[in-house]
Formats: sequence, C-alpha cells, structure tokens
Amino acid sequence: MSSDTALRLAVVISGRGSNMLAIARACASGMINARIVSVIADRPEAGGIEAARQMGLPVAVLVAREYHDRAGFEHALRAAIDASAAQLVVLAGFMHILSPEFAVHYAGRMLNIHPSLLPSYPGLHTHERALAAGDSSHGCSVHVVTGVLDGGPLILQARVPVLPGDTPATLSARVQLQEHIIYPEVIGWIAAGRLAITGATPQFDGRPLNAPMIRECTDHECS
Ligand code: GRF
Repeated sequence: MSSDTALRLAVVISGRGSNMLAIARACASGMINARIVSVIADRPEAGGIEAARQMGLPVAVLVAREYHDRAGFEHALRAAIDASAAQLVVLAGFMHILSPEFAVHYAGRMLNIHPSLLPSYPGLHTHERALAAGDSSHGCSVHVVTGVLDGGPLILQARVPVLPGDTPATLSARVQLQEHIIYPEVIGWIAAGRLAITGATPQFDGRPLNAPMIRECTDHECS
C-alpha cells in the first residue's frame, strides 16, 4: 500500500497508548491505508511514549503543566499537530478537556474513543458507573469531536455484556479489546473514503449516519 495515499494521522495520548498501538499495527500491517505521522503526549510518564518510539513513530511530548494556561497549551498542541501535516487528529486516551475553539479548528477532522455506550456515561469512571447502575451491557464509542464533551456525532460502538462478578478492571479489559478493533476500523473507513465526517451528520457509504453502527462482541471476545 503506497504511503503517498495513506491518511496522515496525529495520535494524541496521555497514558498507556494501547489504542495508539492498535492503530499503529493496523497501519503497519496494511489493514488500513493510514500512517501515524505524529504521536503527541501531554505527560512525560505516559507509557505510550516508549511504545511509540519502539515502533519507530515520531513522538512529541508537550507537558501541559508547563504552560501558563489552557490557551498556551492548546496553541502548542495545534502547532505540533499542524507541523506534522496530519489530516486526521485521533484522540486516544487524551485526558484533557479541549476548548470549543480547539474543537472548531479541527471540526470534521478529529475523532475520540470513549469507554461507554454514549450518550450514557460521558466523562470519567464509566466502568464504575455502569457497574453501579447494574447495567447488563456496556461498551465503547468512536465519535467525532465537537465542542460538547463526549457529545459529537457517534460513528461506531461496540457492545459487551456485563458479567457476574465483574470489577471495573475486568469490565475495562473486555471493553478495551473492542476499542482496539473499532478505532482502527473507523479510521480505515475514512482512509478508504467510505466515511465522511466533515458535515453535521457523518455520511457512511453515501448515506447519512443518523445513529451509530453497533458491533456486538463475539462469544470468544465476550467471555
Ligand atoms: C481508553 O479506555 C479510552 O476509551 C479512554 O482512555 C483509555 C485510553 O487507553 N478514552 P489507552 O491509553 O489507549 O491504553
């Protein structure tokens, strides 16, 4: 697959970077016609930094707390993304709440993955909240980023069962397995021209996507 035509991705992380790695592997294997041109981390201790370097990916570390204020940090983040000439910004476990202005700047070219079946449980501690509510299913969502926190148009969700005896850790592991499947898949659709996210309603295969697509986990993945 020619890297000339590959969709250029900037992946922005704060932690372990397992989603970033899943995307990097999908790119490297040719499963999707995309290329990570920059991994940007906002914490020097983020585990994903070393993992990205080991894969030979360009890494930039912008330490958020070293900036005067959010505007200063976001200015630097924009500069780093734009310097890489990324076509799509992929938030992958990025723990900052971005300003509406930032979201507007990247309107139609920024995705996020969230560990719940949105619109349920925006924000933090999603696995704990699903367990506390006694939900029988849970999951994750890939969505377009807008100025509304975890509120942009939904593209693809993966649903998993909540099993007896689940803890936040076991539930999170089941959900993350799905994250690593659906995030590369959505990016691949954009790279292949099947999914357009520039308008108010995403278009998939030429039709408006008024509700998210759902992936049900297989028996094997759900155990
Ligand atoms: C994922 O669960 C993602 O849904 C959430 O943050 C976590 C990041 O994990 N936004 P990783 O850093 O990709 O391993």
